[in-house]
Amino acid sequence: MPTLFDSLQLGPHTLENRVLMAPMTRGRASVDNVPTTRMATYYEQRAAGGLLITEGTQISPQGVGWYRAPGIWTDEMVEAWKPVTKAVHDAGGRIFMQLWHLGRVSHPDFQPAGELPVGPSAIAAEGHSHTPSGNKPYVVPRALETSELPGVVADFVRAAENAIAAGFDGVELHGANGYLLDQFIRDGSNRRTDAYGGSIENRWRLPLEVAAAVASAIGSERTAVRLSPTNRYNDMIDSDPIASYSYGARKLGELGLVYLHVVEPRPGHMMHDPEAPALLPHIREYYRGVLISNGGFQADSGNEIIESGLVDAVSFGVPYLANPDLVERLQRGAEQNAPDFATLYAGDDEGYIDYPSLASTL
Ligand SMILES: Cc1cc2nc3c(=O)[nH]c(=O)nc-3n(C[C@H](O)[C@H](O)[C@H](O)COP(=O)(O)O)c2cc1C
Repeated sequence: MPTLFDSLQLGPHTLENRVLMAPMTRGRASVDNVPTTRMATYYEQRAAGGLLITEGTQISPQGVGWYRAPGIWTDEMVEAWKPVTKAVHDAGGRIFMQLWHLGRVSHPDFQPAGELPVGPSAIAAEGHSHTPSGNKPYVVPRALETSELPGVVADFVRAAENAIAAGFDGVELHGANGYLLDQFIRDGSNRRTDAYGGSIENRWRLPLEVAAAVASAIGSERTAVRLSPTNRYNDMIDSDPIASYSYGARKLGELGLVYLHVVEPRPGHMMHDPEAPALLPHIREYYRGVLISNGGFQADSGNEIIESGLVDAVSFGVPYLANPDLVERLQRGAEQNAPDFATLYAGDDEGYIDYPSLASTL
């Protein structure tokens, strides 16, 4: 059986290893959501990972909701992403862009004309939005009209086309962690009575329409999806995740996507919910394509889950942000830099592109 350090065929690409970089919002774009040059340095430093997945990248003004997170809806943004993809490709790496619409957990302070953020239903999440003028409680969103949903699909498609124009190898649709597509999937946030709410089939309708439309626009070999079936982050809950995600996995499999990325934190991880059922075995039963797991992995646990055949690759979040040369450190069993949590979001070079690699500390 393969290990983390064996190659993996991902659509047209042969990845050098199965140590993937998980998407992580870092707040280093401009206040107008335009990527900055330091972002090219950050991703280039990590290009030895089999595949890098960018931070969540907002698809439209309506999808915005995170201070200094990047976007991909204007020509200026497309141009500003090009140095990022070039730097990674020149270093021999591969990079997908994660496409993000925050839905109900945006805030009027981020929205055009200070409008309410939108969601599947007028149900507020518990928690706070980190607005430019400080933390503010989430508001009750405006429920999207059925007639507006094709516009949301079109925004994802245009963002995906822009990502390809900017040089990305593909896109990962953000269907995880309590953002818009996840808000449609789970019944704690979706109480719609139209064709996009109620039954499991109806709640998956929008995410599946988005995935199908993006795959038909840029190719299924360039389209991937991320899910987090039992993650409670952003006040999410579902009454029957096994049934829901078994259905979703089967339908996404039928679209022939290039991979499915599942956040299911291991026991001991701060996001692990001991009461939640393990969904990966169910997803594996219904999804035959490339499957990626994420949440609390290190070398031993990563090798173990790949060798078990349950998944094909593992993505690393926090270890990657603090260790640009994570592949080498995992392979050599070397010590890792500790992450600096004070500089996770927003800021400049510090805690972003100044983590030392092994070579620089020898
Ligand atoms: C600073 C930070 C930013 C994150 N931003 C995103 C994001 O933009 N999109 C996403 O899907 N997950 C995001 N996550 C979640 C990570 O991708 C990952 O699921 C989580 O860190 C668990 O994996 P780990 O234990 O390897 O860190 C973020 C996590 C961190 C720590």
